[in-house]
Amino acid sequence: MVENFAQLTSRIEQLKKEKNAVILAHYYTRPQVQAVADFLGDSLALSVKAKEIDAKIILFAGVHFMAETAKVLSPDKKVLIPNPEAGCSLAESCNAEDFAAFKAQYPDHLVVSYVNTTVGVKALTDVCCTSSNALEVVKSIPADKPIIFAPDRNLGGYIKKLTGRDNMVLWDGACHVHEEFSLEKILELKKEHPEAKIVVHPECKAVVAAVADYVGSTAGILSYCGESEASEFIVVTEAGILAEMKRKFPNKSFIPAPPVDSTCGCNECRYMKMVSLESILACLENEAPEIVMDEATRKAAERSILNMIAIK
Ligand code: 13P
Ligand code: SF4
Repeated sequence: MVENFAQLTSRIEQLKKEKNAVILAHYYTRPQVQAVADFLGDSLALSVKAKEIDAKIILFAGVHFMAETAKVLSPDKKVLIPNPEAGCSLAESCNAEDFAAFKAQYPDHLVVSYVNTTVGVKALTDVCCTSSNALEVVKSIPADKPIIFAPDRNLGGYIKKLTGRDNMVLWDGACHVHEEFSLEKILELKKEHPEAKIVVHPECKAVVAAVADYVGSTAGILSYCGESEASEFIVVTEAGILAEMKRKFPNKSFIPAPPVDSTCGCNECRYMKMVSLESILACLENEAPEIVMDEATRKAAERSILNMIAIK
C-alpha cells in the first residue's frame, strides 16, 4: 500500500508519464499538491496553459470552475478533477438560471464575468475576466456601453472605482475567504511591522483594499513582492500562496493576514484544500472523476473565454 509523501509522489510521477498526463495546480492548493504540479499559476495563466498544453489528460488540482474552464478550452482532452466537491463560494453565489433572469433586466448591457463562474454562467457571458486582467477587459469596452459585472461585488466595485464607470451593474456575490479578512487586525499587524507592505487580492472588501500598498491577482501579488525593495509583506489573500512566496523569495518574510475570527481558519479556502495527494493518485489511477458537459454549453462558454484571451 502506498503510504508516505515520497511513495505517493513517485507513483503520481510514474502515472503522469505512463498516461501522458499533466497536472495544473492553483497557488491556493496544499504545498504537497503544488510539489507534483507541472504548472503552478493563477487562474488566468492556468486557463491559457490548459488551452496550449500538449497532453492526453489534464488533471486539475484546483476547484471545479477551473477544471471546467480547462475542459471548455480543451474539449478533446480528458480533464480530471481529484475532488468534484471542490467548489467555490463565489461561483456558487451565481447560478445560471438566476443570472439569466438578472441579465434579462438589462438587455443593452454587455456581460463581463469573472472566471470564477460555472460553465452555465460563462455561456451567458460576452467576455470573461480574471483578477489579473479585469481592468484591461473592462477598459476594452467602449465607455458608453453599459456592463453587467458578475459575480464578485468586491472585484466589480474595485474596477468600477478604478475606471470611474458608473454604467456597471454588479451581481451581489462574494468569496467566503476574502470577505472575512479583518481590517482591524491588518492595521494591528501593520503597527507591529511598520515597514511591511500590505498586499491585497481584489476579492477583499473595499475598506481592506483601501489600506493596500498593492492590489492584484495572486500572480500580480507575487510579482509585486519580487520587485519591491521591501523585505516584509502582510499578505491579504488565501494563505496557500505563502508556499510559493517562500519558495520564490526565501530572503523575504510573509505574514498571513488573519480573518475576523482567528479560530475559524477562514484565510484558507476549504475547497482548494480538498485536493490531496491521495485524491490525485486515485484520480490518475481511475481516470475519474472526469469533467463532462454538453457541447452547446461548452461552445457558448468557449466564446466568452476566447474573447478574454484575445484581449490579454
Ligand atoms: P486568481 O485569479 O488571482 O488566481 O484568483 C483566483 C481565486 O479563486 C481567488 O480567490
Ligand atoms: Fe472561490 Fe474564494 Fe476559494 Fe477563490 S478562495 S476558489 S474565490 S472560494
